[in-house]
Amino acid sequence: MLFNFLQRYSVGLCSMGQRAMGRGRTWLLARPALAAWIFPADDDSPEARFREFNGWYFANFHEQEKMLADRPRMNFYHAAIARHIQPGDRVIDLGTGTGILAAFAARRGAAHVYAVDHSEILRHAKTLAVENGIQNVEFIALHSSKLETTEKVDVILHEQMGDCLFDEAMVANVCDLRDRLLKPGGLILPSCFDLYCEPVKLNDTRHVPFIWELDVHGFDYSSLGRQRPQEPGYYHLRSCDPNYVEHFLGEPEPVLSVDLHTVRDADVPLELNFTRTVVNAGRLDGYAVYFRARVDADLSLSSGPHDAKRAPHWGYRILRTDRDDFAVGDVIEIRLKVGRWPELDTWRWSQVKRAAVVSSAAE
Ligand SMILES: C[S@@+](CC[C@H](N)C(=O)[O-])C[C@H]1O[C@@H](n2cnc3c(N)ncnc32)[C@H](O)[C@@H]1O
Repeated sequence: MLFNFLQRYSVGLCSMGQRAMGRGRTWLLARPALAAWIFPADDDSPEARFREFNGWYFANFHEQEKMLADRPRMNFYHAAIARHIQPGDRVIDLGTGTGILAAFAARRGAAHVYAVDHSEILRHAKTLAVENGIQNVEFIALHSSKLETTEKVDVILHEQMGDCLFDEAMVANVCDLRDRLLKPGGLILPSCFDLYCEPVKLNDTRHVPFIWELDVHGFDYSSLGRQRPQEPGYYHLRSCDPNYVEHFLGEPEPVLSVDLHTVRDADVPLELNFTRTVVNAGRLDGYAVYFRARVDADLSLSSGPHDAKRAPHWGYRILRTDRDDFAVGDVIEIRLKVGRWPELDTWRWSQVKRAAVVSSAAE
């Protein structure tokens, strides 16, 4: 009898202890500062330094409000979730920010949403969910690589696109969760992406040439061409302005397409060689880098400068080139070599011009 009592007593004590530890863990995970202290960054690699920067960057209200006020972006995600998340689904929202995509999924009837974010913004997400009557969302203050779930999920939902598509480590983060925590046949939303790198002429009224290309009322700067800056950041510009690009020299087409259901981080090529035949003559000022995310034939999201429905908060990049003039029919052979996709400063680009063959009237 004493033995039975001791047995029941110790089982009860153990399960109370377990429940308390579970609650303690949930409490801790909802407090990013404490969680970061308990689960510290364990290395000093470029990836770890980027994570630290990323968490700090997205804690800023202005970064979040720009994304939330971007109507094409929010409409795209709202429609994608309404179409593709089914009532009862278990969902991971990778990088939940203010919790908006997790809220869309919960309203759609998701059984459970793991809303993970490594930024301080998470504590606001939690309050906002309560204030908006959102249920079935578990907020977890962790880097996604540390996330564990009790069972595999039906959907991985994410918005991890940087201006140059890969500069928020989207492929590495999503593939890691896909391989560990997504059910076979599960859905990644969105999963299909196209990267563009188009030769452009910039608008003359806004274009700022390299300093050695300038002649200001007869004052010549060409000698500075012998002292070109060595810092890579000088050679790319950012713009959100659709009128900054006057025209594309060729017909735009993706230089790289990935499907996150199948790609592996190591598969993304580090060198791209492609050509454009000039259909709009003019000066080449650089290459506009932008992306498109595709969910259905009628549902996509673009950061392209001339897309009428471009998502305005994303910038596109101009990879600057030495000026050159192109005629219709000329071919531009372009090489883009990348050290690390997430770091634009490791990208290098060059082109070769193949002039159009002009047939003479005498022939
Ligand atoms: C572009 S914001 C998107 C926020 C939100 N999903 C939305 O659509 O408004 C990306 C968010 O992901 C978080 N994040 C990025 N990488 C992450 C990772 N590997 N693990 C956890 N959070 C991450 C950032 O802190 C940031 O809040």
